[in-house]
Amino acid sequence: MADRRRAKSISTALESWFAHAARDLPWRFEPRDPYMSLVSELMLQQTQVSRVLEKFEPFLERFPSIEDLANADEADVLSEWSGLGYYRRARMLHACAQAIVEQHDGEVPRDVESLCALPGIGRYTAGAIASMVYGDREPLVDGNVVRVMQRLHNNPDQQNDPKTVKWAWENATELVEASEEPGVLNEALMELGATVCTPKRIRCDQCPVQKHCKAFDAGTTESVPPPKPRAKRKELFCASVVCIDSKDRVLMEQRGEDGLWARMWQVPTIEREDRAPTTEEIGDTAELIDSFVHQTTHRIVRFDVYRFDEISTRDRSFKSRSQIDRLGISNAQMKVLTSVFE
Ligand code: ADE
Ligand code: SF4
Repeated sequence: MADRRRAKSISTALESWFAHAARDLPWRFEPRDPYMSLVSELMLQQTQVSRVLEKFEPFLERFPSIEDLANADEADVLSEWSGLGYYRRARMLHACAQAIVEQHDGEVPRDVESLCALPGIGRYTAGAIASMVYGDREPLVDGNVVRVMQRLHNNPDQQNDPKTVKWAWENATELVEASEEPGVLNEALMELGATVCTPKRIRCDQCPVQKHCKAFDAGTTESVPPPKPRAKRKELFCASVVCIDSKDRVLMEQRGEDGLWARMWQVPTIEREDRAPTTEEIGDTAELIDSFVHQTTHRIVRFDVYRFDEISTRDRSFKSRSQIDRLGISNAQMKVLTSVFE
């Protein structure tokens, strides 16, 4: 069957390409370590490799084994995750480590069904662990894989349409069925999407599967998949109040259980959806010292930073610089704090 032959030829080309073209990343050594792979795969969801590289080794130094992570305080896990964003993933990883210790004797399970039953693990991560760590013939699909599949088949649909994603899983299954080494094939597909078959400035001249690529043949690589229509980001207005005591400590508070930046630490911050809080609302002698805009995937957050030493200390506490370095702090609040520490 021609499809089967094409799948075989694509997967062979990808596997031999990966053997020489793979980036040297700290979790890529053989045999793969299940715990390190779990941490790296969760960090890599929605975060660029360059950013993950800054956090991966410190995280493993702090929590060298799955037991260390399971026994850690959530606050320490969030602290080591500081700067990676999507902090819910850090709490899920922590819960996942606890479930693996309690239910699987500290061994990362092998089969997709047991993996998917763990907190924070979906079909993608389960496929990644089963194939890349244990070598099982399981497919995986992430955003990179959907895009590569769409180009190989010149499929012009919206990339995040559930129909397209389902179609990509079927195609990924076909490739993994035809492959020699399922884990290598899967990682090669993602690597191709990350380094060659990128969203923009596509490097088709370096592509190991160019001769199988229907978008390349049709000259449609730039328009497949079509650009995502951007959901309008909601605005949020924050007034962050820097309050410093006589020992140069900074007043800090912890966010609530839910929503944006849940349980992360911040200087006292007043939030509104409709307009910026005014100086009068903060305090008579509050002084505006900085303003900046912080963008997250779903929000445009407009920050005003105030200096004001008489704000209420209720449910808040003064922290020294070294204490602050150990708290979980979002990138936005890091920006607020640079106006204090600079
Ligand atoms: N993105 C997520 N996991 C990856 C991996 N193991 N290799 C390349 N890109 C990835
Ligand atoms: Fe992607 Fe170009 Fe390779 Fe096709 S030829 S898979 S568009 S890099």
